[in-house]
Amino acid sequence: MTIERTLSIIKPHAVEKKIIGKIFDRLECAELTIIGCKMLQLTLCQAREFYAEHQDKIFFQNLIQCMISGPSLISVLEGENAIQSYRQLMGATNPIHAISGTIRADYADSLTENAIHGSDSSISSTREINFFFSCYELFSKKYQL
Ligand code: CDP
Ligand code: MG
Repeated sequence: MTIERTLSIIKPHAVEKKIIGKIFDRLECAELTIIGCKMLQLTLCQAREFYAEHQDKIFFQNLIQCMISGPSLISVLEGENAIQSYRQLMGATNPIHAISGTIRADYADSLTENAIHGSDSSISSTREINFFFSCYELFSKKYQL
């Protein structure tokens, strides 16, 4: 088992629905530790840069509009195999295909407004964590990068 970090974003529509507590409860029950957390409303520029890998996709504009529509709750999670473990809790990107009991199956409003973001690899998690957090904003007892 490897101790990893991953970036989580509770998307604006999910913050609006007041389900931060329900999502945090699920991930803490799954032995993921929140080692950093902030609420912010992404600027157009930040959202476009964060999701740059999707800039040529047809859903890009919808995704960016969703992400800048209100405050997001952004956190860094740490735990054993945190990246894959959080992806499993999240469920499939398209909530229609998400397994029952996953966060997206329970809380997504649509394919774009699918409640949460989670990093998909260790390269992505490093980039995404550094995008939002400095090392002074992360509080880990287990693991120093
Ligand atoms: O978020 P995840 O890594 O599961 O999926 P992605 O393929 O990296 O896509 C990023 C986000 O774009 C998704 O979470 C959806 O919000 C959105 N998306 C969409 O609106 N329509 C699609 N066909 C695919 C993704
Ligand atoms: Mg992704």
